[in-house]
Amino acid sequence: MLKGGASVVHTISGSMSRDAQKRAAADAALEIVLPQLTRDTIIGIGTGSTTNCFIDALATHRHKFDAAVASSDASAARLQGLGITVIDLNAAREVALYVDGADEVNGAMQLIKGGGGALTREKIVAASANEFICIVDESKLVAKLGQFPLPVEVIPMARGLAARALVAMGGQPVYREGLVTDNGNIVLDVFGLDLSDPLAMEPRINAIIGVVENGIFAVRAADVVLIAGPDGVREL
Ligand code: 5RP
Repeated sequence: MLKGGASVVHTISGSMSRDAQKRAAADAALEIVLPQLTRDTIIGIGTGSTTNCFIDALATHRHKFDAAVASSDASAARLQGLGITVIDLNAAREVALYVDGADEVNGAMQLIKGGGGALTREKIVAASANEFICIVDESKLVAKLGQFPLPVEVIPMARGLAARALVAMGGQPVYREGLVTDNGNIVLDVFGLDLSDPLAMEPRINAIIGVVENGIFAVRAADVVLIAGPDGVREL
């Protein structure tokens, strides 16, 4: 928590555009991250437009930490382009922090992620990190997960098999045309699933043969959620 535990992190006069909200959430995350950085720190970095704002803000502080672990090739390229060293997760002694966006966030800091197709690596890095800071604009906040179609990464040859299993669970899977994940797999975006119990549903979907990972982040939820709205950033 920032500034003596205040729940409003930043207040801004006037009304912010959605892009400005993403930047504000990223700046608020940086304020939490900076005091924790040492020369040995490895920081985990997610994927997406909000995370890109964080990467850009982090770049001027690149000499204050050791390296980053990236959840996608795209984020690795952006980090490296800004002079930040990127290492393989297996070479990281410890990942102190993970900063990433989300497609939906509920009041229990459980998430849907994978709108950018990077859900599997995102979940691996999040699971490796001591602290997960999620940064979103307020359009991502929901009472119940599931309006956003749930991304499910699937081994290509299991596409039909996994889709039929998802239909049997009450979902309507849609093949995300043209997307091959960084792991060489496909993504099914699943509409209509009942996600009222995210902790139960996450392992149930992962038990489908051919599913690599799904975009429910409940087993490893966020530790901190920073929500940017038109008037500033608050912590959930
Ligand atoms: C990528 C993700 C992103 O975090 C999620 O899609 C949010 O992206 P954005 O910040 O662009 O709205 O899970 O796989």
